[in-house]
Amino acid sequence: MSHPNRQCVIAGNWKMYKTFDEAVAFLKELIPLVQETSRKVYLAVPFTLIRPMHELAKDSKVEIGAQNMHDSSEGAFTGEIAGKMLKEAGANFVILGHSERRHLFNESNAFINKKVKRAIIDGLQPLLCIGETEEEREAGKTEQVLQTQLKESLEGLDANQLKNLIIAYEPVWAIGSSNPATPEIAQEAHLICRNFLTQHLNEEFAQQLVILYGGSVRPQNAKSFLEQVDIDGLLVGGASLSVDSFSKIVND
Ligand code: PGA
Repeated sequence: MSHPNRQCVIAGNWKMYKTFDEAVAFLKELIPLVQETSRKVYLAVPFTLIRPMHELAKDSKVEIGAQNMHDSSEGAFTGEIAGKMLKEAGANFVILGHSERRHLFNESNAFINKKVKRAIIDGLQPLLCIGETEEEREAGKTEQVLQTQLKESLEGLDANQLKNLIIAYEPVWAIGSSNPATPEIAQEAHLICRNFLTQHLNEEFAQQLVILYGGSVRPQNAKSFLEQVDIDGLLVGGASLSVDSFSKIVND
């Protein structure tokens, strides 16, 4: 079982899916289904859906967040969005460093580090994603890759500043692939992260830190991950797009 002192978080990542009408219908159906859960239920939605979904989710278990932001407070950055704009629209958290941002949009650890810092200033809970590629795993570099991503993405921040941080371990080869990590592989990676952060920051911080697993999570495998001692929740992509599968994962 995951640790009794850490909050279990089930987070959905909608990526670039759902129109306004689809989102409203989804949320109206989801809210009563997850009302009794003791878990935290997060949904990271497209920017234009944040405000209406936040309004609709008031007084429910569902918290709304964003999937990305820029590191500046404002400026001439056509097409970008600032953390304070997300906060104002009703976002509570923001996903940073998702592997699609790292690989399709060339985001570096240094850039992600600046975003984590800005998210904290803007009062958004950072949900930092890390994970190795298939080649890195096959080359035996998983531990080194995870440690470097953590070190460089969290550079210059202390345990107090990072007290609301959530980490998501998402092996790149498992995302959107129908090829999830085994619970044992995920547990091992989570422990690497927790041990590294014990060294890098301190033990108390590392013990209270919520670490999610993500990568082809489905209702059929969710429980097997949550049974691992260092897995505190899940980041769900594809299976968060259907009320049926997402609510099953939350309530399992
Ligand atoms: P998936 O996506 O559940 O569709 O594999 C996870 C993610 O990208 O966060």
